[in-house]
Amino acid sequence: MFKAPRGTADTLPEEQPYWRYIQDKALELCRLYGYGCISTPAFEDAGLFARSVGEGTDIVNKEMYLFKDRSNNELALRPEGTAPVCRAYIEHGMDNLPQPVKLFYFADIFRYERPQAGRYRQHHQFGCEAIGDPSPVLDAEVINMALNFFTSLGLANFSLQLNSIGCRKCRPGQLQKLKDYYTPLAPQLCADCQVRLDKNPLRLLDCKKPGCQAAADEAPKSSDYLCDECAQHFSSLRTYLSALGVRYVLNHRLVRGLDYYTRTVFEIQPAEGGSQSALGGGGRYDDLIALIGGKSTPAIGFATGMERIVLNLVNQGITVPPAEKPAVFIACMGGNARVEAVKLAAKMRDAGIAVISSSGERSLKAQLRYANAAGASYAAIIGEDEVKAGVVILRNMETGEQQEMQPGDLIKLAGNGQ
Ligand code: HAM
Repeated sequence: MFKAPRGTADTLPEEQPYWRYIQDKALELCRLYGYGCISTPAFEDAGLFARSVGEGTDIVNKEMYLFKDRSNNELALRPEGTAPVCRAYIEHGMDNLPQPVKLFYFADIFRYERPQAGRYRQHHQFGCEAIGDPSPVLDAEVINMALNFFTSLGLANFSLQLNSIGCRKCRPGQLQKLKDYYTPLAPQLCADCQVRLDKNPLRLLDCKKPGCQAAADEAPKSSDYLCDECAQHFSSLRTYLSALGVRYVLNHRLVRGLDYYTRTVFEIQPAEGGSQSALGGGGRYDDLIALIGGKSTPAIGFATGMERIVLNLVNQGITVPPAEKPAVFIACMGGNARVEAVKLAAKMRDAGIAVISSSGERSLKAQLRYANAAGASYAAIIGEDEVKAGVVILRNMETGEQQEMQPGDLIKLAGNGQ
């Protein structure tokens, strides 16, 4: 017996209304904010992620699905969506377009993580990237857009966590402060953090191990060591967020799990579950495009996990519009009736009416049971007598009322949504 691989999930028809609901809200959001859709391949040159997300990150080091194709190319299933969009921005000369270029995507994302509630090895993201504008006005707009998205879904009880982690100029100073602080504490840190102290001290701040958390709480705050430009950028961002009425929590331990971020970083966290269950996250990545071979280009974006949203919609008891049910089920009995049923079904679909029909092999009772289970509003019943008379019997599935009518009248009736 085959099963879906560990950490992956099938999304069955009854769960699809949640996905459809989220996608519809996302499309409306992107219309309001002027984002165009982009699709990129499910796999890329592995080097793209090593260079951008960073060699020292868990995503690249431990979680990428790596493979060589038959031509020996080193490829990776995409472990995130930002680097591929930036690769496409460079490859298609989008720097020649009016800036910022605003792009959104729905993408499946692959990370070899330890599966748990809301954490999968293949998950799906809705993401937005605004490329080509350094202004904090854009940071505020993108953050507000992410929040508006969750609000439009009806979700409540989430918080915006905000931080600034500086730029290439001020980061070395911050890292030195962290090293100076953490070095005497090294023996108390977990094994991963001991490596981070050497390789990537910023990541010491978001270690989830209880033993390391107390040290992280007291660690020097990156926002206290920003250069003048980064400090000004952060202060302006906060002014714009206040102007928009956006409430946020300054979280100096928020550094995000990808190395490409500069200045603004943010996460949207549900009231329960903390950073391990973030609804979404993002930030500025002003160096990324130059890092993968483009011109120096500032950018900011965010992404959110569809599975996490579904989980929160269900937990918060938010109902979504149900899937559309077929308007009419066509039941038939006998060979001639079957031919008429096939013709009628085709005509109704041509008229844009959702129809399911039976092959007529089972009893009428069994056929009507199926119509009921499928949620059809009406059943059109055709037997040998109806074929002879050129009519159908229309049964209201809710009331059980039946009436005879011409097939043409049925099409008119069903077409009017009666
Ligand atoms: P990320 O924080 O790694 O950021 O992922 C974004 C969102 O995807 C998370 O907040 C979470 O909702 C969801 N997610 C992540 N991992 C999993 C998983 N294993 N299972 C289910 N859901 C998951 C990024 O990927 C960045 N590219 C976001 C970004 C866009 N930054 C700038 N632009």
